Amino acid sequence: LRRAKIAGVGSFAPENTLTNYDLEEMVDTSDEWITTRTGIKERRIAKEDVTTSDLAYEASKRALKHAGLKAEDLDLILVATATPDHIAFPSTACILQDKLGVKGIPAFDLAAACSGFVYGISVATQYIETGAYDNILVVGAETLSKIINWEDRGTCVLFGDGAGAAVLSPTQSGGILSTTIGADGSQNDVLIVRGGGSKQPFSQQIIDEGLHYVEMEGSPVFKFAVRILGKAAKEALKLADLERDDIDYLIPHQANIRIVDAAAKRLKLNKDQIYVNLDKYGNTSAASIPLALDEAVRSGKITSGDIVVLVGFGAGLTWGASVIEW
Ligand code: ACO
Repeated sequence: LRRAKIAGVGSFAPENTLTNYDLEEMVDTSDEWITTRTGIKERRIAKEDVTTSDLAYEASKRALKHAGLKAEDLDLILVATATPDHIAFPSTACILQDKLGVKGIPAFDLAAACSGFVYGISVATQYIETGAYDNILVVGAETLSKIINWEDRGTCVLFGDGAGAAVLSPTQSGGILSTTIGADGSQNDVLIVRGGGSKQPFSQQIIDEGLHYVEMEGSPVFKFAVRILGKAAKEALKLADLERDDIDYLIPHQANIRIVDAAAKRLKLNKDQIYVNLDKYGNTSAASIPLALDEAVRSGKITSGDIVVLVGFGAGLTWGASVIEW
């Protein structure tokens, strides 16, 4: 038996904090509205000259240290992001490879929005289980603040910047027991950045119309999220031959406390079995699950032998869940 395990985790968020009260000065909103609708109190915002790969680099160094490995020990670098340093190429993974000071190993980006980290776990697991690679760095990193329309109160209150990383290595017992990923492309336009790609390449018009910013229809995303979190988690449990009762700890995508609470109810979990840090960071997309996982591990909430479920959803629409024996 050869499985993958998470050998180390790390995370990083920019220092600069933007509170709900700061947002009250920017758009027609209130701390009360944001808190009751989302649970978010503040989020971190990267400085103008800070890129996604900078955040990814800091999180990766911490994950490598936690795993007791050096960058030279890595066989593959995967970066899940919706906010790459450059829109077409090079990939953020190649820039991260350079920052880590290694050369030669493959490095690529993965686009699955907020489900990106779980998609990354799914990909990395295949390489490890087949024996192709030993140590794989999977990073979720975002500077969403750079693609947010700061005049759109419907989206600007929700998102934040950050990064989380995990080093995956082989194990003979426990580890990543199952992963499931999925997508429903028919809903590709409910959460979208319309401009800047091959459909609507950059032009003055794109900028004038603000099509380079995140656009979201909150309600269909909300309904989808509530349904899919429970469904994906149950599917991953089934693949691992486990039941809902076996879950010790849930790390959900940190988008909205109401979505997390609804998923917890469907999975019959108590509040103390779920890690929530969205109040501090908002929705950091691909970074949200590894950022929460890192904090949960470091604060001692997850301990050896625990059954941990990671579950996410995002634009695409996409979803993914993973069951880990820690
Ligand atoms: N402050 C004050 N009022 C606001 C704000 C704001 N920041 N934003 C919207 N409103 C208003 C709306 O304009 C609307 O007013 P109207 O009724 O006069 O038109 C009113 O509040 C109610 O809006 P709803 O959309 O009905 O509010 P809802 O309860 O659905 O909450 C929310 C909105 C929080 C966005 C919710 O729909 C949600 O969380 N959706 C899921 C979003 C999500 O998870 N996205 C991330 C996906 S992951 C990824 O891939 C990035």
